[in-house]
Amino acid sequence: MQTRREFIEKSSRTAAAIALSGPAASLLAGYVNPKQSPASLPASFHDVAGSRSLRTHARRHGLTFGSAVIIRNVQSDPDYADLVSEQCGIVVPTGELKWIALRPAPDRYDFTLPDFLLSFAQNNHMLMRGHTLCWHQSVPAWIQTEENRPHTRQFFVDHITTVCKHYAGHLHSWDVVNEAILPSDGQPAGLRKSFWYEQIGPDYIELAFRTARAADPDAKLTYNDYGVEYDSEEDAERRRLILELLRNLKKRDVPLGAVGIQSHVKAAQPFTLGEGLANYLESIRQMGLEVYLTELDVNEDDIKDDDPVKRDAIIAQTYTDYLKVALANPAVKLVLTWDISDRFTWLNNGPTHHRKQPNRPQRSLPFDRDFRPKEAFFAIRGSFDRRQIK
Ligand code: G3I
Repeated sequence: MQTRREFIEKSSRTAAAIALSGPAASLLAGYVNPKQSPASLPASFHDVAGSRSLRTHARRHGLTFGSAVIIRNVQSDPDYADLVSEQCGIVVPTGELKWIALRPAPDRYDFTLPDFLLSFAQNNHMLMRGHTLCWHQSVPAWIQTEENRPHTRQFFVDHITTVCKHYAGHLHSWDVVNEAILPSDGQPAGLRKSFWYEQIGPDYIELAFRTARAADPDAKLTYNDYGVEYDSEEDAERRRLILELLRNLKKRDVPLGAVGIQSHVKAAQPFTLGEGLANYLESIRQMGLEVYLTELDVNEDDIKDDDPVKRDAIIAQTYTDYLKVALANPAVKLVLTWDISDRFTWLNNGPTHHRKQPNRPQRSLPFDRDFRPKEAFFAIRGSFDRRQIK
C-alpha cells in the first residue's frame, strides 16, 4: 500500500511526463479550416499560445482564466493536457470531487483522480479549485438508506472535514454549496428541497461553510449557483433570493469569501444580458465578496441555422455580450469555461432528452473537437483585452 506522499510523487512524475509529452506547437499546427474559419482568424498556432493565450491575456487584466476538466481526459490525451496547461491558469474537476465519485462507501474516500489533477496543476503552475462539497445531484445511495439517513448531519460534517483537510493549503477556492436555491420547491427563502435540506434543515448551508473553514483556513469559500444572468423575471427572482441568502450568511459572520455565477449562457435568447446582472454583481461587490464565473459556456440549441460559420459567429457574440457586462465589475476575479473543447462539453456528452437539437453537436467552447481555436476563443480573449481593471 503506498502512502499519500508516494502516490503524489508518482502522479507528479506522470503529470510532468504529460506536460512535456510533445511540443505544444504540434497541437494546433494547421488548425485553420477554411470551411469553419472566417479569413479574419490568424494563421498560426503562435497567435493563440504563450503570451497570446487566454491565461496570459486574462492575467494582464486582473483575471485568472481556466477550465473545468474531466480528469481521465487529462490522463489519457496528451494533446488535451497540453491544451489545458497552455491556456489555463486554474483548473477544476467537473465531477471527481463530488460525493458520489469521492466517497463510494461511508468509510472509504478515493482521492486518486483529484490528487492526480492537483499534481498536474502544480507541475504546470496552475491553481486548482474544488467543486463541490454539497450538491443535491450528488447524494450517494448509501447515505439514503434507512440505517444511515438519521446520521446525515454527522456524515456531512465528517465528509467536509476530511475532504477540506486533505486539500488544505492547496486549493484556491471551494464551491462549498452548489445550487441551493429553487423557488418552485415552495420552501421559505426559496431554498431547494434537497436531501441535505430535508435531513439537516435550512442551516445546512451555514454548517457547510463553518465546517469547511475549520478544516481549511485559506481557500476562498464560495456559494455557487445558476440562473442569474438574464434580464428576465425568473432570473430576477433568483438573484433576489440568492442576495437574501448571502446577506443572511454575512450577518451571521459565516465565512463566505466569494460567489460563483455558473454562466451557462444561451445563444439566440429573447432576454438581454445587462442591468440585472450588473446590479447583482455590484450588490455582491458591496458585501466585500469576490465573484467567479465558474462554468461559462454557450448553449447554442436555439440557433436555427445549421451553418457552423454562422453559428460560431453568434456563439462568439454571445460570449462578448456576456463578458462585457460581467467583466465590467472589479469584483470578478476568475473566469472558467466548463471544459475548454467541444469534444468534452457536457452539452454534447450528457443526456440528450433535454436537448432541442440532439443530432447537432454543440460548438459551445473556445476550442473545437480537434482543439482548434474558434471565434469564441477570440471573443473571450478580446473581452479580457477590453477590460479596464488591472
Ligand atoms: O468518467 C466516467 C466513465 O469512466 C464512465 O464510463 C461513464 C459512464 O457513465 O461515466 C463517466 O463519468 C461521468 C462524468 O460526468 C464524466 O463524463 C458521470 O457518469 C456523469 O454523471 C458526470 O456528469 C457530470 C455532472 O455534472 C454530474 O456530476 C458532468 O460531467 C458535469 O459537467 C456536470 O456538471 C454540472 C456542475 O457540477 C453543476 N452545474 C451544472 C453542470 C452541468 O450539468
